[in-house]
Amino acid sequence: MGSVSSVELAVAVADAGAVGTVTALGLSPGSLARLLDDATARTAGVVAANFLTGPVDRAAVEVAAQRLRLLDFFWSDPDPAVIELVHGHGALVSWQVGSVEEARAAVGSGADVVVVQGDEAGGHVRGVGSLLPLLAAVLDAVEVPVLAAGGIGHPRALAAVLAAGAAGARVGTAFIATEESGAHRTYKDAVVAAGPGASAVTGAFSFGCPLCVTSARHRVLRSCIVAAHALPEGVVGETRIGTRQVVLQKGSPLSPAATTTGNLGAMALYASDAAAAVDAIRPAGDVVRGLCDGAATLLAAQPG
Ligand SMILES: Cc1cc2nc3c(=O)[nH]c(=O)nc-3n(C[C@H](O)[C@H](O)[C@H](O)COP(=O)(O)O)c2cc1C
Repeated sequence: MGSVSSVELAVAVADAGAVGTVTALGLSPGSLARLLDDATARTAGVVAANFLTGPVDRAAVEVAAQRLRLLDFFWSDPDPAVIELVHGHGALVSWQVGSVEEARAAVGSGADVVVVQGDEAGGHVRGVGSLLPLLAAVLDAVEVPVLAAGGIGHPRALAAVLAAGAAGARVGTAFIATEESGAHRTYKDAVVAAGPGASAVTGAFSFGCPLCVTSARHRVLRSCIVAAHALPEGVVGETRIGTRQVVLQKGSPLSPAATTTGNLGAMALYASDAAAAVDAIRPAGDVVRGLCDGAATLLAAQPG
């Protein structure tokens, strides 16, 4: 999750019994190896690495497969050779998909787990429609465990997808306003303040965005679309990437991290309506436990 998914966040999520994911995006195989060694040394839980968009760096995949039990892919076509490489090191592969065809392609290529993303999801949207119909269609089409993603921030939403047959859920927005998240405080506060209907899909943050070449659809808080629209073209701020200070143009796909300065409210505040369930900045472990315990209680209360 870009600036949001710090190692601290992944470790806290893994400690709580969920899968904590770090991004491999933009990291050399050497840097990724150091990051993963650090993360796995800090938790006995499950850490995964996310490979966002192609072309997938096979050397980085190998580094991750040697260290992790699960590698996760999104926004690239399922590739049997990459999946075979991961399996060769004994790790599993999950592939986030946005359609039944893509789910079939992922499983046909060897993926062990499919994540179905509905268009309710925060961040870059691959989903071709709403989560529940898409989830039902994918569950009918493939035999592997299927996770649901998009708009899940409340225990009731988690209970709903589990009752529908999902093996679990993938959650993004609900972790933005956590203590361990790398998001800027202004971004966290905006998520806490957001209610139902606060997000929208836009193409407004496509400036220099490699994912947007395929499809410029990202779900953000409406407030940042309005704020960006009101600005003239040009610089909106600066951020630090590694040791580099980078100037952010209006429409940049980078969301504000702790070190970002400038007009933060006009930057890409990726989030979904799951933000409506976020009422405070909490430890990430509490978010995991709140969702899982709440869903378990709801499901146990169902008749029959
Ligand atoms: C801030 C943010 C950043 C994201 N970055 C990534 C990413 O780097 N890789 C990825 O596979 N998905 C990314 N996603 C999408 C998630 O995988 C997932 O589909 C989405 O968060 C689910 O919807 P939700 O935000 O309503 O929980 C991101 C989502 C958000 C909100």
